[in-house]
Amino acid sequence: MCGIIGYVGHQNAKNVVLEGLKVLEYRGYDSAGVAFLEAAKLDVYKDATRVDALKEQIPHIDAHVGIGHTRWATHGDVSAINAHPHLSFDKNYAVVHNGVIDNFEELKEHLLSQGIKLISSTDSEVIAHMLALCEEQDMLQKIKCVGSQLRGSATFLAIRKNDDSAYVFKRGASLSIGLGKGENLVASDIVAIGKYTNKIITLDDDECAKITKDNVQIFKNGERVKKRTATIKYDCYKECPCYMRAEIDEIPFALKNCKKEIEKGLDPETKNMISTAKKITFCGCGTAYHACMYGKFIFEDILNIPCDCQVASEADTLKFVDKDSVGIFITQSGETADTLLALRHFANLGAKTLALTNVTTSTISKLAQKTLLLGAGAEIAVAATKSYVCQLYALYLIAMRIANKKTISPKRLSQAIAHINSQSIYDEKIKTANVCFIGKGLDYITAKEGALKLKEITYKNCDAYQAGELKHGTIALVDNTSIAIAIATSMRDKKRMCATISELRSRSAQVIAISSIGNVGADSTLELPSLCDERLYPILSVIPLQNLALTTSLQLRLNPDKPRNLAKSVTVI
Ligand code: G6P
Repeated sequence: MCGIIGYVGHQNAKNVVLEGLKVLEYRGYDSAGVAFLEAAKLDVYKDATRVDALKEQIPHIDAHVGIGHTRWATHGDVSAINAHPHLSFDKNYAVVHNGVIDNFEELKEHLLSQGIKLISSTDSEVIAHMLALCEEQDMLQKIKCVGSQLRGSATFLAIRKNDDSAYVFKRGASLSIGLGKGENLVASDIVAIGKYTNKIITLDDDECAKITKDNVQIFKNGERVKKRTATIKYDCYKECPCYMRAEIDEIPFALKNCKKEIEKGLDPETKNMISTAKKITFCGCGTAYHACMYGKFIFEDILNIPCDCQVASEADTLKFVDKDSVGIFITQSGETADTLLALRHFANLGAKTLALTNVTTSTISKLAQKTLLLGAGAEIAVAATKSYVCQLYALYLIAMRIANKKTISPKRLSQAIAHINSQSIYDEKIKTANVCFIGKGLDYITAKEGALKLKEITYKNCDAYQAGELKHGTIALVDNTSIAIAIATSMRDKKRMCATISELRSRSAQVIAISSIGNVGADSTLELPSLCDERLYPILSVIPLQNLALTTSLQLRLNPDKPRNLAKSVTVI
């Protein structure tokens, strides 16, 4: 979703801002724009286009202050006019915004009554005009004054004529400041500024900052605040022809790191929070929700605590949550608005909150009482792969550690993954077939994740079904154009899986199995290597499904890294 970058310093701002925007592309966007302060004028370039195409439109510029934005439309269609930055009516202020301003209509009416017409259909444009209208002389006072009038999520970055500084206001969408030498930067994601610095300050809600090339001053409610500068170790962004491929290949390394992070983060307080819970609810969205389903199963099975799992966008109305409940919020990005809202709901009801996230500086890590980091490394491709596998491993490790049981080493898992990666379940017919995924118990979770991956990056209409439920209706869809991918990793369920596969094949469907329990009667089978604990198979069995989605996407000549309509970090509800 929308990405913000700002630069003030000795380098040419054009290069730094455009490079930063290129990195932020992974969040998903439909238009892009930049503004530079050159001599005493503000130059704005924006379009409903990709960052590379925008770059072509910008002439040589020698600027040392600049801001940039990638937009994911919420208010107003996808157009150059609606792209950010927005200029104030007097052309003195340029603003980029990330969020949704709830009282936009009211603010717009007020501006109209002052004779100011809005050019775009965005909510964000009001900020630029409000800055220009504000009677405060000092720019930080203006930022504070305008910020306090905005309701909803209102993180914005502004520059103005004749001022070598950039100014930020943070509420909602996260923003981090990077401290360099003779240069300072600000971005929605530290991965966009990691090339220049690893000294990071993360802003809290309602904080404002003035950023010059040698100094950063942060204020809250008009008072100067001193913030901790963290040295953050993270992967520097590297250009890569296919991030999803690279990220699947990184799984063994990610698992190793994940174990380290979980063992470091699982302190006695966190263990106690979990082990004394009367009820645990897992919340997340998309792929992270599938990890929640796994969490429920694993925690009930290993820890014997009643658990529930809920799609985060449905969790904001849950009842029967109290001080004896624990909410575990799983989110790769730590920025998903639905998940943050669910966490706030739990906190308001007095429940304890624990976040499992991949991003150290994310909003959720500030909101939750406890945070455990995944350590999967930066994930750029929109479709989650290594982060999902790490979420499952982390949940297993947490439960096993609390139960004082021995866990499997990442090395053993990596050997099994190498074996799996040498095989493929791809079949040319998948491009046109009527595809479904089936499984029972834990394997149903894998089936759901397999279907989501295929939908996300191939746009194929497919779904996942519980093996035993298929015959109660959905089997009516099956014919000789059907391919069913069956996941079978539980000996207890073998009989049922074999029966379902036989029912499918009798109706001319082709069945491809991923199995650790031998022959289940499929047309072809990818055999999983044996593991000491059946509950670990979802970590392995999802990898052939990730590979399947990726190969199909590439075969269909699509871009698996940037699927249409999707964003990596969904910061709106
Ligand atoms: C978006 C992405 C999904 C992702 C979900 C949750 O919808 O398109 O691929 O699984 O967000 O993201 P999170 O960062 O909270 O794990």
